[in-house]
Amino acid sequence: MGATIKDVAKRAGVSIATVSMVVNNKAGHITQKTKQKVFDAIQDLDYKPNYTARSLVSSESHTIGLLVPDITNPFFAELAKELENSLNQAGYITFLCNSCEEPEREMRYVEELISRSVDGLIICGLTSLETTMFDELKLRGIPFLILDNRYALSDYSIHVDDLAGGKIAAKHLLTNGHTKTAFIGSQAEFANIGERYRGYKETIEKAGGTVTGFRTDLTRKGGQLIAQQVFEADVTAVFCSNDMIAVGLYDQAVSSGIRIPDDLSIIGYDDITFADIVQPKLTTIRQPIPQIAAKTVEHLREMIQEKSYSFKEEVLPVSLIERDSVKKR
Ligand code: RIB
Repeated sequence: MGATIKDVAKRAGVSIATVSMVVNNKAGHITQKTKQKVFDAIQDLDYKPNYTARSLVSSESHTIGLLVPDITNPFFAELAKELENSLNQAGYITFLCNSCEEPEREMRYVEELISRSVDGLIICGLTSLETTMFDELKLRGIPFLILDNRYALSDYSIHVDDLAGGKIAAKHLLTNGHTKTAFIGSQAEFANIGERYRGYKETIEKAGGTVTGFRTDLTRKGGQLIAQQVFEADVTAVFCSNDMIAVGLYDQAVSSGIRIPDDLSIIGYDDITFADIVQPKLTTIRQPIPQIAAKTVEHLREMIQEKSYSFKEEVLPVSLIERDSVKKR
């Protein structure tokens, strides 16, 4: 027979009530040292709480629905990994759904996850959830957070300062003598990409420079498809709205005889692992993925445990990661 809560309490040298509070994420006032004793005892005894029974009593399933738009995009894969890790440490199991950037599928998944009694929802890279869905979630008291692409009203969202990101990219190119530049945005309208563009354009134009705009999918393929048009434009540098587009430009540069950064400087956005692998290594704007994940779980837990917890928006800073794809003119 498996270990019981009584065994865990005995092993940790605490009361059954304390173990119960730790296991049920209601241990706000319990010291980290005591919690650690309980976690160690749980691990030593391989104790498995009965979640079904617990959910009947506490109406919590200890499951969080995580929705991403494209799991093949390393940005979302890395974010999902960090989120899962933080959720796991907080005692939750992650239910991952990939919406393939299809709004209908996104909506359906949200409904499905609710019907599976998730304790909360994390929706990344929101494509176009109807506002009615938010009203519904609020009405039903289901805690949720929107990550990355903010919802128009900025309600319940955690994202980076994309306006600043665009400005930082522009300043870096200007500092390196680039005034004739391009920006590659997304095919669909995303609020965060729009902010990157706004910050970038304002800064370049204020300095007397120009920005030629392009649009494509936020994928490697998208970068490959738009590459030739960018190479033929009268520009010396391009700011890609994500790293995957930059990788696509790299692919085409070889066959088009374009040397990066001698003929064209490139700056990306995200700082996915690829950025450090491609040659030349990609200069980019880093989104702090581990912090985004940690903050998300921190707020979501509060929202689940404290129904009156008031949270609206958290904006995290981005930073320039200088590598080798931008050259001084
Ligand atoms: O690579 C995916 C991009 O789209 C990221 O920049 C992220 O912010 C998302 O919206």
